[in-house]
Amino acid sequence: MLRSMPVPSPSSAAGAASESNRSPGAALVLERVGKSYFEGDARRTILEAIDLEIAPAERVALLGRSGSGKSTLLNLAGGIDRPDAGRILVGGEDLGALDEAGVTRFRRRSVGLVFQAFHLVPVLTVAENVSLPLEFDGRLDRAGRARVHELLDRVGLADRAAEHPDHLSGGEQQRVALARALVRRPTLLLADEPTGNLDEETAESVLALLDTLAREEGTAVLMATHSIRSAAHCDRALRLDHGHLRVETLQPQNAP
Ligand SMILES: Nc1ncnc2c1ncn2[C@@H]1O[C@H](COP(=O)(O)OP(=O)(O)OP(=O)(O)O)[C@@H](O)[C@H]1O
Ligand SMILES: [Mg+2]
Repeated sequence: MLRSMPVPSPSSAAGAASESNRSPGAALVLERVGKSYFEGDARRTILEAIDLEIAPAERVALLGRSGSGKSTLLNLAGGIDRPDAGRILVGGEDLGALDEAGVTRFRRRSVGLVFQAFHLVPVLTVAENVSLPLEFDGRLDRAGRARVHELLDRVGLADRAAEHPDHLSGGEQQRVALARALVRRPTLLLADEPTGNLDEETAESVLALLDTLAREEGTAVLMATHSIRSAAHCDRALRLDHGHLRVETLQPQNAP
């Protein structure tokens, strides 16, 4: 299902972006992004001068062993954490130029998040969970409700709208989480091991849905995963290794 392998920009195998060659319409740009953590006095570098550019509606898989920094990179791209060095732009907006309130607004406007644990609100119905981001924005008007219904329909759960999440299977709950992540039409969907809690067959169906929806909505996707098979749903795959991003060559026949 690897449909295309976009040619990386010449400056870096991972599809880098320098000030001079960066495409203006990119969904996500990381320029020389660095992140370290301290353990006592010792600095541990997790990400070292990472360059990355993701085009609108492009789907990119992020592979790497446990502890390689996949979630760290996703958190930086989503404005949940800040880098020590470098610049991050989402839809052309420089996150480093935003104060805390600005970052919160940016997150609400431009980023959708999906995690391994679905993080649905148990006391709310399926429809209320998907509505929540719009309600936060004061946008749960007629158009907002239509948007919620449209998404529930597209994830195949329109008839379960009034139920509570604990009545749904894991795959169904992740479909609700996906609908919630997309309800604001984000520029960038960040998915951190979104199928890590699902069996293989259910994972496949959730990934196929993520694939279809992201394409239809024009949302770029950066998905951290341990699974080559999951990565094969994306347009291209990168691997984090000792702080650096490398191109992972995936051939469709390699997907088990
Ligand atoms: N707030 C923090 N303080 C100190 N170290 C941290 C912090 N957050 C992450 N780390 C460390 O950074 C490294 C990268 O963590 P990260 O969660 O990004 O890895 P990952 O690739 O997502 O791993 P996994 O596949 O297990 O989810 C790990 O060694 C982790 O212990
Ligand atoms: Mg992680």
